[in-house]
Amino acid sequence: MTDEDLVSLARAAALKAYAPYSRFRVGCAVESVDGDLVTGANMENASYRLGVCAEQSARTAAQHAFGLNKVARIAVAGGSGSTVCTPCGGCRQAILEAAQLSRVDVEILCASGDGSAVERHTIGELIPHGFGPANLADSTPA
Ligand code: THU
Repeated sequence: MTDEDLVSLARAAALKAYAPYSRFRVGCAVESVDGDLVTGANMENASYRLGVCAEQSARTAAQHAFGLNKVARIAVAGGSGSTVCTPCGGCRQAILEAAQLSRVDVEILCASGDGSAVERHTIGELIPHGFGPANLADSTPA
């Protein structure tokens, strides 16, 4: 799948967002190391703090479809203009979990809602020196 195709999937997923409160629609597409694909979008709630980001929705779908340990590449697209949508801090931590399980420095294509701008990053760039499952691997349970 090309970068453009993965971004298109994320943009299409954003159209299925439930974002009546912020009106900021975000879509996310996740590609596995085997080329399998899943998508997700943000899901807001009248109890605002219960809202779920697009990356978290897609991450749940990825776990069910092929397992977090197979995540290779992610595209995120959000908003309605030309400003790229980068994953929020919490979503970076969630992506780091998959990255450490898959031992892949997951590539993240960050796109604007209109698709006119795309930035390429790796999770290692977006959350350097992060704390993840690898940090717990060597610890002895109390
Ligand atoms: N949002 C995401 O879905 N992903 C991000 O990485 C940034 C923010 C959502 C949460 C909320 O529904 C809306 O965008 C505005 O913050």
